[in-house]
Amino acid sequence: MKILVYFFTGSGNTERVLKKFESEFQKCGHSVDFVKIENQVYKVKNKIDVNHDEYDLIGIGYPIHAFNAPKIMYDWVKTLEPLKNQKRTFIINTSAEPLIVNHASAIKFSRKLRKKGFDVQNEYHYVMPYDMIYRHKQQMAYKMWDTAQKLITIDAKTILEGKSELYKQVKGAAFYAWVLRIEHFGSQFNGIFYRVDKKKCIKCHKCVNNCPIENIKLKNGEIKFGTKCTMCQRCTYFCPTDAIKTGMFNSWRVNTPYTFEYTEDPEAYDNTNPINVKRANFYNGFWCKSVYVRYFKEAEEKIAKYYK
Ligand SMILES: Cc1cc2nc3c(=O)[nH]c(=O)nc-3n(C[C@H](O)[C@H](O)[C@H](O)COP(=O)(O)O)c2cc1C
Repeated sequence: MKILVYFFTGSGNTERVLKKFESEFQKCGHSVDFVKIENQVYKVKNKIDVNHDEYDLIGIGYPIHAFNAPKIMYDWVKTLEPLKNQKRTFIINTSAEPLIVNHASAIKFSRKLRKKGFDVQNEYHYVMPYDMIYRHKQQMAYKMWDTAQKLITIDAKTILEGKSELYKQVKGAAFYAWVLRIEHFGSQFNGIFYRVDKKKCIKCHKCVNNCPIENIKLKNGEIKFGTKCTMCQRCTYFCPTDAIKTGMFNSWRVNTPYTFEYTEDPEAYDNTNPINVKRANFYNGFWCKSVYVRYFKEAEEKIAKYYK
């Protein structure tokens, strides 16, 4: 089977998850082609002309932003030509909180996809560490990734077997998601206030080159932020000197990728930047504690049932 996977990722979590899907599919003799959504919409010099007829199955991956699919996902759907023949489609998303309301992220998005002939039959949501608000401890990031990998082995099989699996929505979730779609506008507004700390900036221009929507530009050697920010966090997360100030959410920025390596020390962070650690220690103490317990318990039960 030939599988095509479209994806958007801000800080790499969704891509990491999708690469694990790829390895599971390949183990069963299937091939996977990846297409970055940013190249199809904004960085069009890298655009790939996709012939959907060549593929048997389509995957679509994104991080959940404010209980929704990010704006770039909607921008991309608008650019799609309706498919000549319907294609079986699966959606993969990642979020940092295991809140059930996150399952609403694909309601409107799937509707738009179905109108274009993408027959969404499966959706899977994995909890991965925060790239905004606060940094998860190293042990927690490891546990999230370890759990996701085990779940993906199971979920990839379900997709390949052609069994449908979609989330049941809880009451009110669609409404919360609808209200929080204001984030699409809010991130653009907040983006106007992004700045570079000139004392820290080493002019590597990673932020300029990496911005998925080409919102960060060099003008006379100065880094300038435009009005299209989608708040994916890629610029600040990968900044080698933590030099980017992210407007009203500056204190929520998370800098430097997670290692996802195991540590014995439950208190350790894999990045000791004081801005991360001080705030993270505060949030890690209480934030969504009970829902993480539920997520891991349910995941362990699903894994145990599968391997029994
Ligand atoms: C602007 C923004 C909004 C977010 N909103 C949510 C949210 O509503 N629920 C949640 O659980 N995580 C939320 N997150 C966390 C990300 O979904 C999570 O870290 C995800 O794994 C990032 O994936 P990526 O690295 O592929 O971009 C948000 C992150 C950002 C940057």
